[in-house]
Amino acid sequence: MRRLLAILIATSMTLAAANTVEIFSWWAGDEGPALEALIEVFEAEYPGVTVDNATVTGGAGVVARAVLRTRMLGGNPPDSFQVHAGDELILSWVVANRMEDLTFLFEEEGWLDVFPQDLIDLISTPEGIWSVPVNIHRSNIMWYVPANLEAWGVEAPQTWDAFLEVCPAIQAEGVTPLALGEAWTQLHLWESVALGVLGPDRYAQLWTGELPFNDPAAVAVWERFGEVLDCTNADAAGLSWQQATDMVVDGDAAFNIMGDWAAGYMATTLQLEPGVGFGWAPSPETAGVFMVLSDSFGLPVGAPNREQAINWLRVSGSLAGQDAFNPLKGSIAPRTDSDMSLYNAYLQSAAADFASDRQVGSLAHGTVGSDPFRDNFYLALDIFLDSRNAQAAANAAFAVAQQYGLGR
Ligand code: GAL
Repeated sequence: MRRLLAILIATSMTLAAANTVEIFSWWAGDEGPALEALIEVFEAEYPGVTVDNATVTGGAGVVARAVLRTRMLGGNPPDSFQVHAGDELILSWVVANRMEDLTFLFEEEGWLDVFPQDLIDLISTPEGIWSVPVNIHRSNIMWYVPANLEAWGVEAPQTWDAFLEVCPAIQAEGVTPLALGEAWTQLHLWESVALGVLGPDRYAQLWTGELPFNDPAAVAVWERFGEVLDCTNADAAGLSWQQATDMVVDGDAAFNIMGDWAAGYMATTLQLEPGVGFGWAPSPETAGVFMVLSDSFGLPVGAPNREQAINWLRVSGSLAGQDAFNPLKGSIAPRTDSDMSLYNAYLQSAAADFASDRQVGSLAHGTVGSDPFRDNFYLALDIFLDSRNAQAAANAAFAVAQQYGLGR
């Protein structure tokens, strides 16, 4: 009897495991609603299968990626995990033979016809297609509250000169001109400043090595970055991206430069109406350029529940999945057939810009630059924050690029 019981328990445990699919991401707390909506679509389509929503908090995945690395190297991969399309996916996991080729799924699901070719290129090598993009986010956006700007007599600046010009007047109101958060958000700001100062051609050349990081043009980025930093809050290092956004919403800061997950946070979590409760503009000097990043899910080699992981990927790439996820997330669907009537005014404008703008890649969010390059680029940032020496920071960035290489 006891033996029978033991067998029954063991069998039911195996069944439970077989019916659970572990999805690993950093979409916890405030970042969770879009993922939860996607999970609902999955559970409706695959009744009886439970999603183990394994999240590791921390904006931009700074903590989650370290945990993931330990698990992957320790032979304990989740069934599927969030990874940025581009160099983060390819140079961390694909070149190390840790991912399964998903070309078969793209063919079965007809995705080769509905995802933009540029995006497919980002997740592909000559050997295969390596993840399923679930969204398209834009990095280079400046957020504000229209009524506050009006009260202060300030307009969203189109150039950094214009921003620096209004900065003292905003400070005189007792308001921080530009809200800033912890280290990765500083890198995020840096890339927007770099895009503005260099323009899209030369910004793109940073990532091919054609524009060396110690070129005078790249030194000038750090100089401008320093002037911009002088207009930010002193407690930046201790704030999450949501807290930096809150500063703007609460009227403690005039502007914030952040990816459009901030629109998701303001519309979904804070229930603000796009265009009324919050406004947006391309970050200074980047109009007509869309700094793109995309979250995707992949299939690691050795996924414990491979079958359900593949089903998770099917839902992640499906029209129903993407149109449930993206309106809440503050991102647009990669699928070109998504139903734009489900998307708010910000997202409709993002979709129009994505269709017409020049596209470049984000360093802070893995489109360009390998993980080791990015991790070590923070040294250049630290050197600059400590010394405010643009040449020293540029030299450090150059050394990091030399050591870790750029591009695929
Ligand atoms: C990005 C990610 C976004 C959002 C953001 C803040 O790297 O692509 O989806 O989660 O981090 O955590």
